[in-house]
Amino acid sequence: MKAYFDNAATTRLDQEVLETMMPLMTEAFGNPSSIHSYGRAVRSVVERARKSVAGILNAAPAEIFFTSGGTEADNTAIRSSIETFGLKHAITSKIEHHAVLHTLEHLAKTGQIQLSFVNLNEKGEVDLGHLEVLLQTNSRSLVSLMHGNNEIGNLLDLNAVGDLCEHYDAIFHSDTVQTMAHYKHDLQQLKTNFIVGSAHKFHGPKGIGFLYVKPGTKIFPFVHGGAQERNMRGGTENVYGIVGLAKALELGYRDMAEHRSHIEGLKTRMIHKLRENIEGVTFNGKSALLDESLYTVLSVSLPPSGLNDMLLFNMDIAGVAVSGGSACASGTDVGSHVLTEIQINPDRANVRFSFGKYNTTEEVDFAVNTLAELYRKESVML
Ligand SMILES: Cc1ncc(COP(=O)(O)O)c(C=O)c1O
Repeated sequence: MKAYFDNAATTRLDQEVLETMMPLMTEAFGNPSSIHSYGRAVRSVVERARKSVAGILNAAPAEIFFTSGGTEADNTAIRSSIETFGLKHAITSKIEHHAVLHTLEHLAKTGQIQLSFVNLNEKGEVDLGHLEVLLQTNSRSLVSLMHGNNEIGNLLDLNAVGDLCEHYDAIFHSDTVQTMAHYKHDLQQLKTNFIVGSAHKFHGPKGIGFLYVKPGTKIFPFVHGGAQERNMRGGTENVYGIVGLAKALELGYRDMAEHRSHIEGLKTRMIHKLRENIEGVTFNGKSALLDESLYTVLSVSLPPSGLNDMLLFNMDIAGVAVSGGSACASGTDVGSHVLTEIQINPDRANVRFSFGKYNTTEEVDFAVNTLAELYRKESVML
């Protein structure tokens, strides 16, 4: 048996999505910028996809820009807002995805902005009181805080942060890569200037994403070139990707309640089974709290054992695909910046299970039994 529990890294392409994409790879191959019939036909497909994405998120088509993925969308939002509004200060957290963290750190290193980090507690929760102090005591800021953390699953209260940003006239970007198509985003309600999506995180193709830009927030091209994406992103469009993204988002929204309930059942089962089978198991961040974490992510902390370094490798050999991450024990150890930040004991091993609609209860049982068996063998050897 094999089990794939790395859906936060990427998901399997939905067959229905593939079928929607196929004609754009074969007969409808025109360049959307061409003015002849081949080009025009494909242009209308791209614009239909944009309209569909916008409609689902309760936004206008002109507010959606297709990009190569979440990373480019995050980069564009951050760089554009700093340039457009002449911002000199940004606030983020140390547990953001590198698409955000490295971009802001680069801007700080090159003297373009001053960067502040909001305090987090040991569960990785953002200290909203500290965020308010940072907003009060600095010039107009960009706030970049993710909606759902890809490693520990913590969910941020977008409304609470949005209210603070509105009050202090800050620009708010949220990396919504892990919540897009898994949670509903209503852009008429959200007080965000930018949110982002990446299709391969919700059963769409890789290499395609989008950036939502609130009306009135002018952006600058991140990739210079042709006039595509209304002059904001040069380069011939990834047409089949765009169509696949729109279809995957549509299916994600259509089946959201059903998949959520299925996946929550799997996560709950895994929490119980791990507690039953592995003494001393705990959960990182808020990932064991169903209402306060991504239902797709469970970050597990395992008691120290001789297995630590080889754990993921051994699980892979046994047929269970998961991600890991350790807290850095020393300055030279490149571990997970997220686990290091929330000061997870570096002697413990960490495994991230991330779930998707194709996972089954049998796979959960198989994964827990595999892990428990590896621990049992290890303790016999000790
Ligand atoms: C929270 C978060 N942001 C951004 C990204 C980057 O997305 P992409 O792979 O589409 O560039 C990822 C993917 O790992 C992610 O989990």
